[in-house]
Amino acid sequence: MANSVGAWIWSALLLFAFIASASSDESVAEETPSAVLTLDASNFSETIAKHPFLVVEFYAPWCGHCKKLEPEYEKAASILSKHDPPIVLAKVNANEEINKDLASTHGVRGFPTLKILRNEGKNIQDYKGPRDADGIVEYLKKQVGPASAEIKSSEDAVNFIDEKKVFIVGVFPEYSGEEFDNFTKLAEKLRSDYDFGHTSDAKLLPRGDTAVKGPVVRLFKPFDELFVDFQDFHLDALEGSIEVASIPVVTIFDKEPSNHPYVIKFFNNQNAKVLLFIHFSEQYFDSFKSKYLEVAENYKGKKMSFLLGDIKASEGAFQYFGLVESQVPLIILQENDGKKYLKPNLEPDQIATWLREYVDGSLTPFIKSEPIPELNDEPVKVVVANSLRDVVFNSGKNVLLEFYAPWCGHCKKLAPILDEVAVSLHDDADVIIAKMDATANDVPSEFQVQGYPTLYFSSAAGKLLQYEGGRTVDDFIDFIKKNKDSVVETIQSDPIKDEL
Ligand SMILES: *[C@@H]1O[C@H](CO)[C@@H](O)[C@H](O)[C@H]1NC(C)=O
Ligand SMILES: *[C@@H]1O[C@H](CO)[C@@H](O)[C@H](O)[C@H]1NC(C)=O
Repeated sequence: MANSVGAWIWSALLLFAFIASASSDESVAEETPSAVLTLDASNFSETIAKHPFLVVEFYAPWCGHCKKLEPEYEKAASILSKHDPPIVLAKVNANEEINKDLASTHGVRGFPTLKILRNEGKNIQDYKGPRDADGIVEYLKKQVGPASAEIKSSEDAVNFIDEKKVFIVGVFPEYSGEEFDNFTKLAEKLRSDYDFGHTSDAKLLPRGDTAVKGPVVRLFKPFDELFVDFQDFHLDALEGSIEVASIPVVTIFDKEPSNHPYVIKFFNNQNAKVLLFIHFSEQYFDSFKSKYLEVAENYKGKKMSFLLGDIKASEGAFQYFGLVESQVPLIILQENDGKKYLKPNLEPDQIATWLREYVDGSLTPFIKSEPIPELNDEPVKVVVANSLRDVVFNSGKNVLLEFYAPWCGHCKKLAPILDEVAVSLHDDADVIIAKMDATANDVPSEFQVQGYPTLYFSSAAGKLLQYEGGRTVDDFIDFIKKNKDSVVETIQSDPIKDEL
């Protein structure tokens, strides 16, 4: 569950990032044969056997992001076909029945998914580069070379170390020994996430330090303390240090694409997440930022991650949390199980106090809910997050509850059917037919809502079932009659009887 919460938000936020990074250059001529190989289950293995380095895009014909990627991918494939050694780009239509196994063995869960296959597919990594043609070319050129580039001169250092990205350099008196081997292994493993280099001469590095002889790993980053050194060469320890050091104390979320990789990292980590949303263009920006940084520093290592978001880039997040602009400046904290806390109309001086109250357990969780309707006289009753417990669990009634989304076609088809069910059962005072807009209300954790419509039945005695039967009026009525508890009976039932 925790992960699906993260993934949701993540895609909402990144929708924007993707649109911003995909350029609109569609200059690939229609007639030229495609530089991208089309593969399917019949020739996948033989093709990867032929190419030591192959990039595969798993796509679906109906996927909008795939369509946006297509001209960029094509252009990149054409440029990279002339590269030495050749870099081959391929695609698989994962929507086709024969390719579904292929997609699932490659862990494809959304579209497009891009994988880098090396060594006949024995080494597979996620493609984590940009999605515009130039970005794809640049990223893949680095991926096909050695995992760690040797820095032999100050020019190398300047060329390799991108000041806007994390860059990890190993300093070794000589390129051998266990430390060097471990560094190289880790560079292979993490090469699609970070850029790596190694040198025997620390003074070639930016902010170079002649005293450093190594073995040492120095991580350069475009934020916070700008570089960190590590000397523990155990693989897990080194990987852990790199992960921690490459997340900023405060992740900035705005329209600047170079910040987006950190936003992805922020949402993928397992900490509780604190998000402060303000207008970056307002006068108050500096005082919020400095107070927030100070607080975040104090919570370092305490399983909390901090993000500062510009309201201009945060439409997706606002929709997801059910927030409105008049609440800005606002701070929201989300735990891994989805529990949330909110303080709207915040002042910089209140950040530290609010978090202390959270840690002390004195805050009340925030639940996204539409207002409880004053009039609820349609056959199908409207339930919102704040009335769900009263209507479903505490009413002592048998409730059929539909979770729907306003845009969902199957839900629209179902609406008149549920109306009819409700009208037919109108005279049965023990039964309620209800619906909740699951996009505007938080769904309690008792329910698993992964698609729309999702239907649950809660009996008067408190038995909760997911409804998976047919969708005709008779199907629903039969199910309800079979599963409902008589309200009178439940009142009479007592522990002694239950034991018999
Ligand atoms: C793989 O097979 C498909 C259809 O069977 C074909 O369209 C495609 O061109 C083949 N690809 C290669 C690289 O042979
Ligand atoms: C290299 O990593 C392995 C696995 O973590 C570890 O056993 C070994 O001690 C490491 N070598 C050094 C010099 O830290």
